[in-house]
Amino acid sequence: MTNFETPNLVIRGFKIFKERLDLNIQNDLISDLREIVKVAPLFSPHVPGGNKMSVKMTSAGKYGWFSDSKGYRYVSRQKNGNNWPQIPNSIMEIWQKFVSLERNPDCCLINYYSKDAKMGMHQDNDEADFDWPVLSISLGDDALFRIGNVEKGGKTDSLWLNSGDIIVMGDEARLKYHGIDRIRSGTSNLLKNGGRINLTLRVVD
Ligand code: SIN
Ligand code: MN
Repeated sequence: MTNFETPNLVIRGFKIFKERLDLNIQNDLISDLREIVKVAPLFSPHVPGGNKMSVKMTSAGKYGWFSDSKGYRYVSRQKNGNNWPQIPNSIMEIWQKFVSLERNPDCCLINYYSKDAKMGMHQDNDEADFDWPVLSISLGDDALFRIGNVEKGGKTDSLWLNSGDIIVMGDEARLKYHGIDRIRSGTSNLLKNGGRINLTLRVVD
């Protein structure tokens, strides 16, 4: 694995690259994402306990991330039987710049946060291979990101993520708990109707 970029800060192993995507790139990403949601519409997954997540999701790539009463998992098809759309080059290029040219991700999970959405503390552990990092891209409204530990609970640190920020969660950070406490609505006008999009790129198998 090669790291070409130097992070602005590292918190508990999470490498944080502040505002690394300029507005042109952010707008290109949004237009590519608009094409994706036309063929893979956003949906609100149910967590295994039965509740609906407040975040809306869809995916691109060989696999999509999915959750229902049977649990969290990656699936190779959408509910309607169609494949997931390909991960666009605009997104692959970011992985190649911040993670590696050796191996591309299998899944780009697309999370949409409206103003009241949040994401509870969780580990990204549905992948078969933890040697590769998860890369996160923030677009749109600011979000309060909380970083914990490999074990559930304990002390945490929080920071605001802004549009254009990238996080690489690898090595000691790979299995650390993390979540989004809240969105600061109206802090960005990247998205016509407001809100925030987070992309996470994952090597699955
Ligand atoms: C996630 O952990 O899947 C999303 C994190 C974020 O929205 O920044
Ligand atoms: Mn996660």
